[in-house]
Amino acid sequence: MKRTMIEITDDLKEKLVQAAIDVRRWAYAPYSRYRVGAALLADSGEIYDGVNVENAAFPTGTCAERAAIFTAVSQGERQFSAIAVVSSNGGAPCGACRQVLAEFGLDTIVFVADDQGRIQQETTVKELLPGAFGPGDLPGFESTNSE
Ligand code: THU
Repeated sequence: MKRTMIEITDDLKEKLVQAAIDVRRWAYAPYSRYRVGAALLADSGEIYDGVNVENAAFPTGTCAERAAIFTAVSQGERQFSAIAVVSSNGGAPCGACRQVLAEFGLDTIVFVADDQGRIQQETTVKELLPGAFGPGDLPGFESTNSE
């Protein structure tokens, strides 16, 4: 599908990181105490936030990135220009979140920042998940995540 990614200016990058910092206050992380906020910029220009939501049954909790992606997809979005992920120390997105991001495109830019907004990593899904398994690997499905 033809798409137009949004050009990420310094202002937009700052706005995205700030949105991730702001939403992080709502993270529900009573077990790990590791609060994460994510802000996902769709090609439409809309920003969708997410936080990690833990659970007493540990494996049923979910990450901030996936919360943001599922919210966005639930609103009809399928294409994403960038995502900002914020935690206390700027920890990297987990493997499961990389896979879920890859489903919707390898070119999405990923900003990883600490809670002061200091960027720790500026990369792409392609770089975070080389050789990703995607829709194109399933016979009969079009590759929506290829370069
Ligand atoms: N976490 C995220 O929200 N995103 C990641 O990519 C890494 C980990 C969350 C999951 C869990 O609630 C806490 O951080 C500690 O692993």
